[in-house]
Amino acid sequence: MKVTVGALFSVALILSSATAMAQSAERGERTFNQQCKACHTVDKGGASPIGPNLFGVVGRKAGTVAGYDSSDAMKKSGITWDEAALGDYLKDPKAKVAGTKMLFAGLKQPAQVADVIAYLKKVSP
Ligand code: HEC
Repeated sequence: MKVTVGALFSVALILSSATAMAQSAERGERTFNQQCKACHTVDKGGASPIGPNLFGVVGRKAGTVAGYDSSDAMKKSGITWDEAALGDYLKDPKAKVAGTKMLFAGLKQPAQVADVIAYLKKVSP
């Protein structure tokens, strides 16, 4: 059987895009440390320096962290942070919750959003 370089190349491409699409908590941790950590902690009972502590955020009602003064917009949003809601919010916070006080433009790459959610799930079971 004759295998062309072109065929090998497409196989490699398919394999690499499949890996790129899988959620990675490890990559998510890196992104979190670069883009979220300045304002958020993820440890249990951790502080809410600028934004609310995110331990257990997956599955939690928006704007309900004890001891943190969430915006009215967040409290009234009626959101429960499942993966879909987090996905929308992290992509474009102000589009998902108009009036949110999270001053963050949003994660531009869908893969980054998926990875950060995987990380949040891992650290807040
Ligand atoms: C400049 C500071 C800042 C950065 C950077 C930031 N946030 Fe926030 N975040 C906030 C603030 C402030 C709030 C509270 C928003 C409100 O009450 O309207 C918030 C709220 C949230 C909430 C809702 C929490 C709840 O209990 O309802 C989530 C989830 C969240 N941030 C995740 C992230 C993630 C993930 C990143 C990184 C990709 C990030 N944030 C980056 C400041 C920040």
